[in-house]
Amino acid sequence: MKNPSVIVITGASSGLGEGLAEAYAAPGRVLLLTGRNEQRLHAVVAACEARGPQVVPALVDVSDREAMERMLTDFDREHPIDLLIANAGIGYGTGRYLMERPEHTHELSMINIIGVSNTVMPVINRMAARGRGQIALMASVAGFAAITQSPSYAATKAYVKHWGEALYGRLKPFGVEVTTICPGFVKSAMTDANRFSMPFLMDRDRATDIMVRGLAAGRSRVAFPWPVTWAAGLLGTLPSFIATRLNPLRRKPKLPPID
Ligand SMILES: NC(=O)c1ccc[n+]([C@@H]2O[C@H](COP(=O)([O-])OP(=O)(O)OC[C@H]3O[C@@H](n4cnc5c(N)ncnc54)[C@H](OP(=O)(O)O)[C@@H]3O)[C@@H](O)[C@H]2O)c1
Repeated sequence: MKNPSVIVITGASSGLGEGLAEAYAAPGRVLLLTGRNEQRLHAVVAACEARGPQVVPALVDVSDREAMERMLTDFDREHPIDLLIANAGIGYGTGRYLMERPEHTHELSMINIIGVSNTVMPVINRMAARGRGQIALMASVAGFAAITQSPSYAATKAYVKHWGEALYGRLKPFGVEVTTICPGFVKSAMTDANRFSMPFLMDRDRATDIMVRGLAAGRSRVAFPWPVTWAAGLLGTLPSFIATRLNPLRRKPKLPPID
């Protein structure tokens, strides 16, 4: 969509969501920005308001289905949404251990998978009935290939990528565009926590610019930077006996104590 007027961004209180919020903040627009951290969200809202749009902040957890449905339906009645960006997400890796902790896997699923569904589902039928709108889902290049440093995270992003690409074909006849965004490594609080090498780590402004241009062009997939996308894509399509040899654990992780 070339010039959306009403935009919703989940997870706008930091990182990529904050970058997108600032990029879309312009006079004549209405922005609904969500997050959980009140202080950070309000700082982003103030920075966006200084650029001229009307900004509505919402402190809501994307894993709370009823709260998300209420918030999005109420907002959409008043301001029919042009562009909905399901960006909120978390990342956990295995760290020094063999696997992610079970509670981390649960949290990853509740936020990165169920949270995306809770964001998109309340709006789909409403956009389809209007015959217009754009939905963007924040997946990752981790969705292309099985990454040994963060198995559960990569699996949640593979879900989002798959789901988004299926929604694209499903909603196109109704005039609703779906864009699945697959960034490589972008500097943010999430990547600051990583203790492994992050090839082609990109700064947030450059990543924001690529995402905004891809969304304006209505592309079904926005994946970047290309060397990481191609490598991950190739890894994902190779026969598994080759792919698993190319993607091994470099260092043997710690095992938890066994009773
Ligand atoms: N950075 C990268 O390299 C990279 C690469 C590929 C994909 N991504 C994806 O991009 C998205 C944003 O990541 P980021 O790097 O910008 O990380 P970030 O700086 O940690 O930002 C994450 C955002 O998501 C929000 N969030 C997390 N859990 C939430 C919940 N339960 N309910 C509502 N909001 C929640 C956070 O809000 P609060 O802090 O206020 O809770 C924050 O605004 C994620 O989906 C991530 O998987 C990032």
